[in-house]
Amino acid sequence: MDPMNTSKFQFGPFEVLAVPVLRDNFVFLLCREGRAVLVDAGEAAPVLDCLKEGNLQLLEILITHTHPDHIGGCRSLQERLGSLVFSPGVGERDVELLGSRCRAVSTPGHMAVHKCYHFPELEILFAGDTLINGACGRLLGGTMEQLFGSFRWIAGLPDDTRVFGGHDYLIDNMKFARSIEPDNGDVRERLELYRTDPAAALFATLGTEKRTNPFLRVDTLEAFAELRRLKDCF
Ligand SMILES: [Fe+2]
Repeated sequence: MDPMNTSKFQFGPFEVLAVPVLRDNFVFLLCREGRAVLVDAGEAAPVLDCLKEGNLQLLEILITHTHPDHIGGCRSLQERLGSLVFSPGVGERDVELLGSRCRAVSTPGHMAVHKCYHFPELEILFAGDTLINGACGRLLGGTMEQLFGSFRWIAGLPDDTRVFGGHDYLIDNMKFARSIEPDNGDVRERLELYRTDPAAALFATLGTEKRTNPFLRVDTLEAFAELRRLKDCF
């Protein structure tokens, strides 16, 4: 992808900063009134810059899964700022963060241990590498059944939910979607939107995902597995 700046999304008194890190990853700061929680921590320096620029206090780090590009900066941030870290290995739970409810939900498949962080009152889903702009993460430790089950859970959330996935794979993913459904106008529109407003195209609502993400457009394990096999050699 072309170098992107940090993009901002407003949710009432909350703001989500999508911070590009490493080659094509994102980490996310959910902020309210000078305090923030971080989702994933692939790299520390860009996060420290954002915190400084926004005069933000980092309270907690929520980790979706333990691939190095999602945790590489975690220890450094923890040691410098004293932030708490929510590991994906602990059980599912509901917690209160910045005055809003956060559900840590097990969404295995990409890895055997993976969490998504859902803020139902804000209609925000931090999806890690489970659902990534128009497709799903590869199987790198979990099973196809697990990944399909995780997608079925995501599909049950409200369509207005804004989905923040951990990478910028949009162009490849939309090209794959186009190969599956050549006449899907929503896929073409999302690809066009990427050129003018990449953040809006990347971090779409679940409604848009349902219209453009082939993995959300099948409802059997067999069809889902066939798509994943095709995508692996696309
Ligand atoms: Fe990953």
